[in-house]
Amino acid sequence: MASYLLLVILIHSSPFLSQAKQNGIDSFKCVNIYQQPAFSHRKLRHHKLQTKPNIPQFPGATFSRSDVNNDHGCPKGTVPIHANPSIHPQNDINSGVKYFATISTPPGEKTYRGGAAIMGVFNPVVKQMQSSRANVWVQNGPTSDLNSIEAGWAVHPNLYGDNYTRLTAYWTADDFRTTGCYNLLCPGFVQIDTSVFLGQAYLINLDHPMMIEQIGIFQDNVTGNWWLVTQMNYLIIPVGYWPKKIFTYLTLGADVVKYGGTTSTYLQQLDRPPMGSGKYPGDLGWVFGFFTRIRYVNDSYNLIDADHRKMNKVLDSVCYGLMYFTAGGAMKEAMKFGGPGGTPDRCKQLPP
Ligand SMILES: *[C@@H]1O[C@H](CO)[C@@H](O)[C@H](O)[C@H]1NC(C)=O
Ligand SMILES: *[C@@H]1O[C@H](CO)[C@@H](O)[C@H](O)[C@H]1NC(C)=O
Ligand SMILES: *[C@@H]1O[C@H](CO)[C@@H](O)[C@H](O)[C@H]1NC(C)=O
Repeated sequence: MASYLLLVILIHSSPFLSQAKQNGIDSFKCVNIYQQPAFSHRKLRHHKLQTKPNIPQFPGATFSRSDVNNDHGCPKGTVPIHANPSIHPQNDINSGVKYFATISTPPGEKTYRGGAAIMGVFNPVVKQMQSSRANVWVQNGPTSDLNSIEAGWAVHPNLYGDNYTRLTAYWTADDFRTTGCYNLLCPGFVQIDTSVFLGQAYLINLDHPMMIEQIGIFQDNVTGNWWLVTQMNYLIIPVGYWPKKIFTYLTLGADVVKYGGTTSTYLQQLDRPPMGSGKYPGDLGWVFGFFTRIRYVNDSYNLIDADHRKMNKVLDSVCYGLMYFTAGGAMKEAMKFGGPGGTPDRCKQLPP
């Protein structure tokens, strides 16, 4: 119960750095909402902009921004686009030696219209040529043509040019071969909110080592587009969406919803980075990486607690841990994950 109170208190404080104080950490430009990068995608030239989501699966959602202090966002009619000068498409690294500590719905059984979870946001120490992330994924399609959207937080020095933890997403329509990218590094994601944007940094530092945020990826029940929704201060914010047209299989819904942590190391010989908070799930207190209220959206657009008897677990190294359990109270389905990483030898990938 005490930990649930902590969760409520933390979710009440804004996770993002106040843009007034950030000294260029979150530099962004405000672009005309109709002239944002997405519209140069060849399949989106005639795309009709959708400004409000239809996501009945997220009840209680108040999408009004009138009660938000929007001094630091963009003026009406424009949207913020992350303008960190370090970002360059050649830094769009989504490869390397990857590790996972995840749970997922069993593939190929059912159609899902999204997933959501509350997650701890941390700032693990990640060096160049490494990344550490925690995500919700929605996926569909055969391995060779996998359609995937993943969103959550990431520390990714090669992508961002710094060590901040940032709201980060990735999409592909062909298993990362020729389509897709992080954030807005290629045309695809349509930004709608005027102040929360992909690439934005979280307010995490030594005094404030953890935040809590809800991340949801939901298919719109009218247009079929896939929305990214974040929750902070009890306010649910549809950040923007991936139009269904940029996908093939995901157009018809997802067959896998996945939750958890992942790390990448882009040079084989480097030590593997920490995942989650850098602590193993067995460690006491709220220092471990975690997800609570793990839920998915079923084919009738109902938001349902994950069924713990049916979820697949993936943990591929002793350098990280994973504990999936049904917690009491409002946390419902929950998991702890993460660990310190280590040498390539110690972190040798376990057989599935
Ligand atoms: C979609 O969801 C809205 C609520 O956001 C609901 O009113 C509407 O009936 C739903 N439409 C369809 C086609 O399911
Ligand atoms: C990341 O943090 C380390 C110290 O932990 C520092 O040495 C390094 O320069 C930082 N990297 C970047 C890209 O800011
Ligand atoms: C979705 O969940 C609701 C509520 O539990 C249930 O009534 C409905 O039958 C489910 N739909 C599907 C397709 O499983």
